[in-house]
Amino acid sequence: MIFKQLFDAETWTYSYLIADSVSKEAVFIDPVNTHIEDYINLLDAHGLQLIYSLETHVHADHITASGLLRQRLGAQTAVSRLCGAETADVQIQDGDIFKLGVTEHIKVIATPGHTRGSIAFLWRDRVFTGDSLLIAGCGRTDFQGGDAGALYDCITQRLFTLPDETLVYPGHDYQGLWVSSIMQERTSNPRLAGKTREQFIEIMNGLNLPKPRLIDAAVPANRYCGLDENERQDAIAVREAARPVRNDITPQDMVAVAKQQITEVTVTTAKQLLAEGNIVVVDTREESEYAAGHIVNALLLPRGVLEFKIGNSPELADKSKAVLIYCRTGGRSALAAQTLQQLGYNNVLSMAGGFDAWQKA
Ligand SMILES: [Fe+2]
Repeated sequence: MIFKQLFDAETWTYSYLIADSVSKEAVFIDPVNTHIEDYINLLDAHGLQLIYSLETHVHADHITASGLLRQRLGAQTAVSRLCGAETADVQIQDGDIFKLGVTEHIKVIATPGHTRGSIAFLWRDRVFTGDSLLIAGCGRTDFQGGDAGALYDCITQRLFTLPDETLVYPGHDYQGLWVSSIMQERTSNPRLAGKTREQFIEIMNGLNLPKPRLIDAAVPANRYCGLDENERQDAIAVREAARPVRNDITPQDMVAVAKQQITEVTVTTAKQLLAEGNIVVVDTREESEYAAGHIVNALLLPRGVLEFKIGNSPELADKSKAVLIYCRTGGRSALAAQTLQQLGYNNVLSMAGGFDAWQKA
């Protein structure tokens, strides 16, 4: 086997190369776009064939190289199906296994919490934890469907139950540390060791971290495997053409598909974003529903006329502007968010649960 830990000093990101020395098949975990030439040189130097680019999640702090690696080398891109990365070749599910040659197996462990679609990869005696479990820390839980309780559950129940000697390779380290072990983290990670679920949630809720520097560019780009606007539109067109025609699709199916392609936020997150300002709120219900009550300053754009009326709204002239869209329960807004993305808006959030949940909160 061949194993290399690679570091991007710009974003403090670790990427990993794993290869089977017999078949020469290789994978990268969390490759960074600016290192594409280094990766290709590294593969060439060892005579390796890249089969997959695996992502532990849709990153907010750097842009993935997976789309470039697919373009240049034909490697398949793989990310959790819960990440809304429509153009990824493999939509990963918990328990999936990626094989290299006949002996190397990389197993997927779902670890939601840092983001909804976060996963870890277990290979031999090593676990690649992305931003879920860091050395003496863990990823933040306030963006992209993050959930502190879910993170506590999956770290304590799914990662800390791995054998003590399992090596922990994180997605980042900001102190120059590069590897830990399950026992070390279970017994000394300051956020988790000896902490109850409630204490952990309190710690995470009290972090008050600044927004990641690259989030507005990185999250939308990474949903398209790190490709730029033209490349991503081409990739979408190819996917759409390959999509089989379905006769039995229900509205619920359509909403479920839309939700995989968009970003949903909770009412709590929506309220935080509104308080921070600099976000356009769109109500995509009918006029009568809007008249009966709506979020203050929400723009009314009923879903039926969305594409036609959107051009009349100066607030939405800039397609990179953050948009929060809602309906009554979250179904229409998911479909509308998908439409906005198709129209080129790259920072659209749909409020889960809709106005009903907003009123209950
Ligand atoms: Fe992350």
